Amino acid sequence: MPHEDDPRAAEPPSRLLATCPRGHPVPEEARFCPTCGVPLERLQPLEERRIVTVLFCDLVGFTSASEHADPEDVRMRIDRYFDRVRGVIDRFGGTAEKFIGDAVVGVFGVPLVHEDDAERAVSAGLRILQEIAELNASDPSLGLAVRIGINTGEVLARFYTGADQTEGMVTGDVVNTASRLQGIAPPDGIVVGEATYLAARASFVFTRLEPVQLKGKAGPVAAWQVVSPQHASLSPFEPAQTQFVGREDEMAILQATYRKVARELSAHVLTIIGEAGAGKTRLVAEFSTWLGRLEEPVTVRRGRCPPYGDGVTFWALGEIIKAECGILESDGPGEAEAKLARAVEARVPESERQWIRARLAPLVGLQSSEPGETGERFTAWRRFLESLASAGPFVCVIEDLQWADPALLDFVGQFIEWGSEGPLFVITTARLELFERRPGWGGGARTASVLNLAPLSTAECAQLVSAIVGAPGLSSEVEASILDRVEGNPLFAEEFVRLLIERGVLVRSGERIDLLPDAKLPVPDSIASVVSARLDSLPVDRKGLLADAAVIGAVFWAASVAMVGGRDRGPVDTGLHELSRQEFVRPIRASSIAGEAEFRFWHAIVRDVAYQQLPRRIRATGSRTSRSSLPTTTRARSSSRRPLGRPAWPPRWPAPRCITPSSPATEPWASISAGPRRTTVAPWSSRRTMAQRASTRERSCCCGWAGHS
Ligand SMILES: Nc1ncnc2c1ncn2[C@@H]1O[C@H](COP(=O)(O)OP(=O)(O)O)[C@@H](O)[C@H]1O
Ligand SMILES: [Mg+2]
Repeated sequence: MPHEDDPRAAEPPSRLLATCPRGHPVPEEARFCPTCGVPLERLQPLEERRIVTVLFCDLVGFTSASEHADPEDVRMRIDRYFDRVRGVIDRFGGTAEKFIGDAVVGVFGVPLVHEDDAERAVSAGLRILQEIAELNASDPSLGLAVRIGINTGEVLARFYTGADQTEGMVTGDVVNTASRLQGIAPPDGIVVGEATYLAARASFVFTRLEPVQLKGKAGPVAAWQVVSPQHASLSPFEPAQTQFVGREDEMAILQATYRKVARELSAHVLTIIGEAGAGKTRLVAEFSTWLGRLEEPVTVRRGRCPPYGDGVTFWALGEIIKAECGILESDGPGEAEAKLARAVEARVPESERQWIRARLAPLVGLQSSEPGETGERFTAWRRFLESLASAGPFVCVIEDLQWADPALLDFVGQFIEWGSEGPLFVITTARLELFERRPGWGGGARTASVLNLAPLSTAECAQLVSAIVGAPGLSSEVEASILDRVEGNPLFAEEFVRLLIERGVLVRSGERIDLLPDAKLPVPDSIASVVSARLDSLPVDRKGLLADAAVIGAVFWAASVAMVGGRDRGPVDTGLHELSRQEFVRPIRASSIAGEAEFRFWHAIVRDVAYQQLPRRIRATGSRTSRSSLPTTTRARSSSRRPLGRPAWPPRWPAPRCITPSSPATEPWASISAGPRRTTVAPWSSRRTMAQRASTRERSCCCGWAGHS
């Protein structure tokens, strides 16, 4: 496997598109499509460092079992196995990368990163086991058994994205380790490494294995075996582990809207918009607690839109109906059917019962003899929700609407368009991307409103960090460096603190808690995944613009981005405008260079991740280009990271303390250290408690959905 410093990796070959952009077949190495004559572009492969999850699946004992078998039978058996495994990996958003002997290697994170790649891989693993069992049941002569190893880590990914094709290659130790973990899994078992376990532990039940000595590894490696998915509980929100800060205005809006719904006996759809980790779920959870304290009983049900999976069109609505009927994931069809019937009987007038029950059945995973047309089903579901509300205020929370199927958006949209009887309060949460799909969502109607969740203030974020760390509190330097990076995002704040605690790099230093001397402040994997997934949603050229900007620094100018990438100025201006609309960067009103548009990354972390994805040699080349081609003043200011505790780019130039002597090519996230300081690495009794508190915190949005297989 070539290492990234290997000369062979230095010049990745370009290649021709293998299909015509219009879909016609083309012979290999053709320069023009023989059918329509369109020139076939020469594609440069993309190369990036990124965090991926690798699934390694191998057949158990297949070679010996097939020793005396007819080769055609062997081929047939293995093809059926490959097709199934490849199909599952595909459906869960991974890429089946290589077939090594009887083994299939699936990569989650290439060509597209998803913030929940580790969970997807584990869900896919469980699904593979299920499909292998189904294959064996359909043909007992197959007798297939597999072992699966899953591992998460950084790789150098090289891939081509073309018309309809993607072809990937990842290089890194993570692939070998996945294969070794596979080797220690029992037949029909899945073993995962530590990073996968940490990323997926909220969604699956694991058992810890004894640390194992793997070939090629210096010390023993921690490993976990997957037991099952966590079953969703019927209570809408898990109790929060951290103090709730700020959000007074937003709470007041939710409370006022609820009162209006309850008073007017109508329906209202309120959409909370905010980036990943902004606190949408937490706000609704706190609001739900407030509802619980009211005199009148209020029912709150919650469903989430999963980002992937089979048959998930109305998943969120299904969760709400299941919770209302008390149907558990573990209930068999008979029990689910009986619970549904009882719930419908208790809430719906007799004349409508049969009709509504038949249309609710598919939502809770039951077959229905008369599911009805879409319009009719929508009416039945609406009637059911209205009858629930007629018995008392009903709050229906639908989370992560940015991933909702268009049909679910249509269904929720009907409440906005047509209004409905209540008191029915529909609260939806979504990221900004929702507006790309439905630009006018929730605007202009009396029956709907949108609540934009701004970042927490610095003081609120500091309060959150102190609450997690506990006494005696972080030194102002470390606290400032965390606040500086997270820019008001509570999830990011929690993850940073949690990582520092887990890494054991915090020490008591005098009156405060400090970083160990020379300790680094890395970007936690969980945040990197959220940010990478957002970056991957961008078209290649937009992402390229961000990468070029990242080479320059946290603050950059349109002209320097154009120079770094050798791009025309027009598309750079348009691109940066578009990127600021999407909240990747923000324009700085008073540019420090006359006549030159100045920007900064929306989050320092976005820059860190974009930069982190660049292969080392490109970081070096890019930074050389950028520094040599910029005007002197610009060059001097394109430092990667300001010193601790300093405000972001003061408006006046020069600002000597804002110039970091390091080249932008040094790791930006590695530039914070405690520096020389008198510290005592004393046993710190509260560390364990803090780690526990931080790790049992409320699950974040990105892992809030227990993947189903
Ligand atoms: N106002 C707040 N005060 C304290 N913690 C918060 C606040 N908002 C969010 N959090 C915490 O930050 C993390 C991410 O919040 P979450 O609501 O899951 O974000 P979102 O749903 O917007 O992605 C959670 O652990 C949550 O408890
Ligand atoms: Mg959420």
